[in-house]
Amino acid sequence: MTKLHGIRACVFDAYGTLFDVHAPVRKLAAELGGKAEDISRLWRQKQLEYTWLRSLMGVHADFWHVTSEALDYTLDQHGVAEPGLKDELMALYLKLDAYPEVMEALETVKSKSKLTAILSNGSPSMLEAIVSHAGLERFFNLVLSVEDVGIYKPSRRVYRHAMQKLQIHDAPAVCFISANCWDAQAAAQFGFQAVRVDRFGLRDDRIPGRPAAYIPDLGGLAALL
Ligand code: LAC
Repeated sequence: MTKLHGIRACVFDAYGTLFDVHAPVRKLAAELGGKAEDISRLWRQKQLEYTWLRSLMGVHADFWHVTSEALDYTLDQHGVAEPGLKDELMALYLKLDAYPEVMEALETVKSKSKLTAILSNGSPSMLEAIVSHAGLERFFNLVLSVEDVGIYKPSRRVYRHAMQKLQIHDAPAVCFISANCWDAQAAAQFGFQAVRVDRFGLRDDRIPGRPAAYIPDLGGLAALL
């Protein structure tokens, strides 16, 4: 097992890494029938695309807005128009389930005296809602949102923001953990020691940056530190 050396802080991505973004659609799957999985996947894909597109276009809107527009697109594309369904899905997005191993994994990381933070596209109020719903507040020194920077990941400005807030001056002292390939790779390219949580059995994207380590879920993190 590769050990990471010199780590002073563990910085976690939120959506898909700590929190299950597919939980809302799964909870309402009965109302969506056979399309549920496709709807959840397209919602997530469009949500991410809109963050990247808005960042390139220079027209930032917060993650709640982008998530809502991505859901509008997805339901429209699938011809779903049940009244109230969109609002229900958006409400569930504020109560996402944490993945089952998350709490124990964070306990172990904390016991190793590392600084801990979330660095997420989520708006501050979205992050506050999901962290407190999952009862994870006590595990994080900082919960950081791209809203403080005004551009989405993978802008280098976002990763730099985490270093500034953590008062860490050397990027490799940060272990950045994400289940999103592009996020883990961009963080590695920025200079963090990145760990990809391979929840979805995905290949690395063909973009610069390679994670220092891969783990199947967060249960494997402490052994790297
Ligand atoms: C986040 C997205 C990338 O939490 O999952 O920033």
